[in-house]
Formats: sequence, C-alpha cells, structure tokens
Amino acid sequence: MAGNEFSVKLLIWRQSGPAQPGELASYTMDNVLPEMSLLEMLDLLNEKLTAEGIDPVAFDSDCREGICGTCGLVINGIAHGPHSGAATCEVRMRSFSDGETIVIEPFRAASFPVIKDLVVDRAAFDRIMQAGGYVSINTGSAPEANSIPVPRPHAESAMDAAACIGCAACVAACPNASASLFTSAKISQYAQLPQGRAEAKRRVVRMVDAMDEEGFGNCSNHGECEAVCPKEISIFNIGRMRREYLKAVL
Ligand code: SF4
Ligand code: FES
Repeated sequence: MAGNEFSVKLLIWRQSGPAQPGELASYTMDNVLPEMSLLEMLDLLNEKLTAEGIDPVAFDSDCREGICGTCGLVINGIAHGPHSGAATCEVRMRSFSDGETIVIEPFRAASFPVIKDLVVDRAAFDRIMQAGGYVSINTGSAPEANSIPVPRPHAESAMDAAACIGCAACVAACPNASASLFTSAKISQYAQLPQGRAEAKRRVVRMVDAMDEEGFGNCSNHGECEAVCPKEISIFNIGRMRREYLKAVL
C-alpha cells in the first residue's frame, strides 16, 4: 500500500427495485487515495464488485463538476456530504480518515421513489418545470444588450437564483420534504427580470400548484434546504415565491 493510501468501511443502501425492500450493505475499500473523489471511489468499488460477480452499486452522475445536479447522495446523514456549497461529486476522499465508516444513502422523499440502490426518480422536478419554468412569449431575435434596462440588484439576484442545478438536496434535507427552495429559485430567476414579468402570475400559480400536486410538503422555515444547497440558494427566494403567489391569486 502506498504511503498516503488508506481504507474505509462503506455502508451503502442496496435496493434492487422500487417495490423491493432495501438494506445497508457493508463493503471495505482499501487503496483509497485522498485526492480521489467519492464517486471515483464508488467507481473502484463497482470494478471490484463486478470482478467478484456482484451487482455493482447503481448511482447517478454526469458532469462530476457540480454543474448538472444528477449526483445527489446522502453521505453520513447529510445531503451532499460534509462540505457546504458543494455537490456530491465535489466531495474528495481526503474528507474522511483511515478506518472511518461512511454511510451512503439515496435522497429520500416520497415524491422521489428509489429506482435502484442510490438512484431516485426526480421526474417530479421536471413536471414542476414543465408547469411554468420557461418564457413562452415570442421574443424575436436577440435584442441589443442595453435595450431593456435591468437594475443591477435584480439581475444579480435573478442570476443567483438561476444557479440552482435541480439536484433535490433541499428536498432530501427538509423534514417536510418540501420543494419550496427549488421551486422558488426557478420562479425567482424569471420574476425579477422584465422578460419574465409578462407571465409571472400564471407561472407562480402553475408551478406552486404542480409542486403541491407532486406531494411535496410545506415549508416551515427550518432552513435545512439552504444549509445543504450546493449552490447556496437563499431561502429569501421562498419569501419572494409566497409574495408572488399572493399577488397572483388575490
Ligand atoms: S435549490 Fe439548491 S439544493 Fe435545491 S435543487 Fe436547487 S441547487 Fe439543489
Ligand atoms: S455529477 Fe453533475 S453536479 Fe455532480
């Protein structure tokens, strides 16, 4: 074993299908390097399991750069693991010590059924987006950049909200499994820009209704969503969503 290699014990949620019971399975991983990402360590585990004729652990990932939002896991009880402002794919093995036990589970919420092992079905988010997460008016060709003045604070705040990658950690961390942070970020990214105001009332009603129809819980201001969000989306967006909703329905 090279000088900086170490071993970890893994307790990983294994579940063969949506209707099957699941359980934590125990594995030992040797030859772990500090600079490895947690997902690379899972890749190595899967190579080992495959060589032993064991079904590899199913998990999602795509960009592995904190951009796409596909990789969410609960690591030692925390959505996206030990670092604030980082997605699961950005967690490095240097965050753990030799001999440590790492518990890895899927994002759990009634609206996100487990498909297999660590993979959950997050299509409920897609349906919320389909309900109103777009601008449908014909905007023609790209306008000259300064033809529609946007106050800088509005532009900055809209861009901050648009940083949401739809990872669903906010739902997994919320004791009510509320999707309010996600939905409010998507509403806020349009609500603060002139291009989004034309459909603002219809959008907020449709998206909030879709969120409720998907069975997500209500927000009770715990703030866990903001604490685990890899893009540090502010819960002030939830306040904006509520104001927009009230303005639309009253
Ligand atoms: S608000 Fe944050 S935690 Fe929730 S889906 Fe968006 S990026 Fe993920
Ligand atoms: S794999 Fe894309 S955000 Fe983690």
